[in-house]
Amino acid sequence: MKTILVTGSAGFIGSNLVLRLFKEMSEGTIVGLDNLNDYYDPTLKDYRLSEIEKAKPAGIEYEFVKGDLADKTLIDGLFEKYHFDVVVNLAAQAGVRYSITNPDAYIQSNMIGFYNILEACRHNPVEHLVYASSSSVYGGNKKVPFSTDDRVDNPVSLYAATKKSNELFAHCYSKLYDIPTTGLRFFTVYGPAGRPDMAYFGFTNKLLKGETIQIFNYGNCRRDFTYVDDIVEGVYRVMQKAPERKKGEDGLPIPPYAVYNIGGGQPENLLDFVNILQEELVRAGVLPADFDFEAHKQLVPMQPGDVPTTYADATALERDFGFTPKITLREGLRKFAEWYKEFYGHK
Ligand SMILES: NC(=O)c1ccc[n+]([C@@H]2O[C@H](COP(=O)([O-])OP(=O)(O)OC[C@H]3O[C@@H](n4cnc5c(N)ncnc54)[C@H](O)[C@@H]3O)[C@@H](O)[C@H]2O)c1
Repeated sequence: MKTILVTGSAGFIGSNLVLRLFKEMSEGTIVGLDNLNDYYDPTLKDYRLSEIEKAKPAGIEYEFVKGDLADKTLIDGLFEKYHFDVVVNLAAQAGVRYSITNPDAYIQSNMIGFYNILEACRHNPVEHLVYASSSSVYGGNKKVPFSTDDRVDNPVSLYAATKKSNELFAHCYSKLYDIPTTGLRFFTVYGPAGRPDMAYFGFTNKLLKGETIQIFNYGNCRRDFTYVDDIVEGVYRVMQKAPERKKGEDGLPIPPYAVYNIGGGQPENLLDFVNILQEELVRAGVLPADFDFEAHKQLVPMQPGDVPTTYADATALERDFGFTPKITLREGLRKFAEWYKEFYGHK
């Protein structure tokens, strides 16, 4: 019977992970933690939490804690109370552009917050700490696809720098304290009840209001979009198998440390992505069939912090966990558009 902590449980990926754990587990305890900040519309976080409450099965103990990762006393208290077997750290200040104007939030949540999780894992041993990293650690990497063997020491945003730092911190704690850790570099995650700060969601809001959407780098960008269910499948599989604890010839631990990409390895051109989004928004009835799309589209230069391409080499995930993301952009955007119609259509 496992006791699992999911941080960021009111977030896009975290809430979907809790729903998945409810389906997979017949007994055990799940604790969700989130500070419910207003980086984006908190009604979405309330909605996700209510979906979780509705889905909770009888055999599972579930508790939601409203609190901040940066609150060391709170985090230590939770670990002492529950003695977690597995911790999945998804809480973070996300977003590349916001990090340019609001660096403090990234230091608090991603650096101090993650450090608190590592310290708590040190003093209350866990079987496995899984944590979210990001494709942004690859910066402007020219070599594609991006492999976890590539050098990633040229971040182009503070967000990316905090995610790379998390991997370095994790390595150090794995080595010094023999804590099994796995970092997951997610590639542009999208889906129903996703994040309004991301392009597919923001574009939809703007088009609906009759505003013009801006397509960066004149559309010459490629993104390896990954549907949220594929991300959750990857996280779920990885949670089950921690890197092995072994001793080296010097008698000291070989760090039980791993990092994987989770992305489909099929980058889409931004203009193609926008066309599919538009078609699916019309199909779902979010936009009218005669919507003049060309009149609401503007091609603009690259923005600071942005990278031209993301492209995952996901062979290691397939090799070690038998899984590669499968859901096509059309299927995924269809589900997003249908959810959007239902969620906002009745308001
Ligand atoms: N969505 C993506 O495309 C993507 C890509 C790469 C990496 N990631 C990473 O995956 C993780 C989950 O991302 P998401 O898309 O679900 O984002 P999200 O913003 O929807 O979820 C993060 C949640 O963490 C909470 N949170 C933030 N700071 C906190 C703190 N200090 N204490 C407690 N809770 C806090 C927020 O309220 C939010 O609900 C993040 O670490 C993010 O950086 C996401």
